[in-house]
Amino acid sequence: MRKGQTPLVCLTAYTTPIARLADRHCDIVLVGDSVGMVLHGLSSTLGVTLDMMIMHGQAVRRGLVRALMVVDLPFGSYEESPEQAFRNAARLMAETGCAAVKLEGGQTMAETIRFLAARGVPVMAHVGLTPQAVNTLGGYRVQGRGDDAERIRRDAGAVTEAGAFSVVLEKVPEPLAKRITAEIAVPTIGIGASLACDGQILVSDDMLGLFSSFRPKFVKRYAELGDQADAAIAAYAADVRERRFPAAEHLYANETKAGGVT
Ligand code: KIV
Ligand code: NA
Repeated sequence: MRKGQTPLVCLTAYTTPIARLADRHCDIVLVGDSVGMVLHGLSSTLGVTLDMMIMHGQAVRRGLVRALMVVDLPFGSYEESPEQAFRNAARLMAETGCAAVKLEGGQTMAETIRFLAARGVPVMAHVGLTPQAVNTLGGYRVQGRGDDAERIRRDAGAVTEAGAFSVVLEKVPEPLAKRITAEIAVPTIGIGASLACDGQILVSDDMLGLFSSFRPKFVKRYAELGDQADAAIAAYAADVRERRFPAAEHLYANETKAGGVT
C-alpha cells in the first residue's frame, strides 16, 4: 500500500462492537493503552495493566476478520529488558490472537525491538510524543520542534534499523514527519503528524465524540455520539419518571400466542 501511495487507515478499538465496525473500513486496528483514559477514567496511560490489554484485546479479536490487529504493551511491561518485553509480548499474542505489538520509545528501545523481531514478534514502534513518558516529557506538548527534530529523527531511524515494521509518529511538525517518512524504509502512521505520513490513526472514542475530558487539536470529530447518548439517557429517565416507559408494546402477554412471540 505504501508503494501504491494509498494511505493506511488505522483506528483504535477496545470492544467487539467497535472492532466489527473498524474491521469493515480499516487496514489496522490498534488496541491502544489509551483504553485506560477513554474507557476506564484514568488520568494518564501509566495505570494500564497487561491484564487490561489482554481482556480488551480478546474482545477486539472477536470482532475482526481482516484487519491487522496490534496491541499496545502497557507502561512497565517491556522497558526493563528485552526478555521482559518478549515474555509479555508473547502473552499478548498467545492470549489475544493479535498479529503484532506496539511499544513506545526510540533509540532506547532499539535493542528490545531487535530482540522481539528476531523471535517472531512484529513490532510497531511509537516515537515523537510518547504518552507513557508524560512525566519525564513534562506534559503532552508537540515534540521535535527546532533542534529537538534530530532526536526524533534518530529515534525513527533506530527503531527502523532494529526491525520495526511501522512507526507511529505522534504530535510532530509536518516538515519532520515528511523528512522521517522519506528517510525510513517502513510506513509511518501519523497522529497529529500531518498528511506527510504513510497512514493515519485516531482514537475511536475521540473521533466518535465519546471522550470529552480534553480535545487535542489533531482530533477530527466525525460524530458526536456522547451528545446523542446523553440525550437518549435523559429521554429514558424522563419516560420512567413520567410512567411513559414501559408502554404496551414492551409488555409480555400472559398467554403464549400461536407463532411464539417472544
Ligand atoms: O494508545 C493509543 O491509542 C495509541 C495511538 C493513539 C497511536 O497509542
Ligand atoms: Na498507546
